[in-house]
Amino acid sequence: DWTMAEFRKTKIDEIRAQVGKSRVICGLSGGVDSAVAAVLIHEAIGEQLTCVFVDHGLMRLGEAEQVVSLFRGHYNIPLIHKDVSTLFLGGLAGVTDPEAKRKFIGKTFIDVFEAEARQIGGAEFLAQGTLYPDVIESVSFTGGPSVTIKSHHNVGGLPERMDMQLVEPLRELFKDEVRELGRELGLPDTFVGRHPFPGPGLAIRIPGEVTREACDILRKADAIYLEEIRNAGLYDAIWQAFAVLLPVRTVGVMGDGRTYDQVCALRAVTSTDGMTADIYPFDAAFLSRVATRIINEVKGINRVVYDYTSKPPGTIEWE
Ligand code: XMP
Repeated sequence: DWTMAEFRKTKIDEIRAQVGKSRVICGLSGGVDSAVAAVLIHEAIGEQLTCVFVDHGLMRLGEAEQVVSLFRGHYNIPLIHKDVSTLFLGGLAGVTDPEAKRKFIGKTFIDVFEAEARQIGGAEFLAQGTLYPDVIESVSFTGGPSVTIKSHHNVGGLPERMDMQLVEPLRELFKDEVRELGRELGLPDTFVGRHPFPGPGLAIRIPGEVTREACDILRKADAIYLEEIRNAGLYDAIWQAFAVLLPVRTVGVMGDGRTYDQVCALRAVTSTDGMTADIYPFDAAFLSRVATRIINEVKGINRVVYDYTSKPPGTIEWE
């Protein structure tokens, strides 16, 4: 019978056999998958691995800091932290189409990563935290002839361009198994248990144009929502919960004044692999508490709505 401890041993042997004495670089996205892949590969080949964290500035509140302290502090894994938020936000100016956002972010991520790889003298192998659902969702949509629903930027592109071989130790795993492996590798529960976060980050949670100001507003609303979810003890019962900042202004009234601010949508779903999802049925008191806090504490938002759409027909993200 199959356990994560065995999987860990088997994969470590496989990685060593595949890589030999060569160098490997791994791009960290801030998420659980790339972190677990990196820690596993580090255990297999140690100093032959270099991690590059391309920080596009589209992360949740405090997330970049968490990744840096986990790698440098907890594991003592050398990490290059590249803060390139200006580059990303500059390039996203005027871009409103969801796939155009993904393409720009994916391409820019590759450019920055490639430049860093050259800086350190290159490597023969590229490590990625690709999961099984990433592999199938990027290829085709079941029920139709090979239609790409959303291009997941962590799959494809980079290896061909950089002429490198891939190391993808998580390719057969589903999300819950990656978490189990993460725990097996000693990653903190708070990190391993984190909800999935898309590579393009907040850019696809801001329909319309992405600006630094919009990111800042969204980060605050999202942090309040997640804090309330944690306080209510619901975090682990939910697959993914996040706020979306809509490019719509509505009229409100606060104190003696009229407000004309943006709408924030709250999303929370249950799922086992992200391929299908059901909405999380919060009680009304919880939702009104969150709405009140967001409107009172986040300047720029004066209305909060809850998204009641399952997947299918909706997708989990709004873009
Ligand atoms: P959707 O929105 O397609 O999301 O129902 C399914 C899962 O995939 C994540 N997602 C992405 N992850 N790059 C990623 O790395 C992307 O472009 C992307 N789009 C969606 C989403 O957060 C959910 O977990």
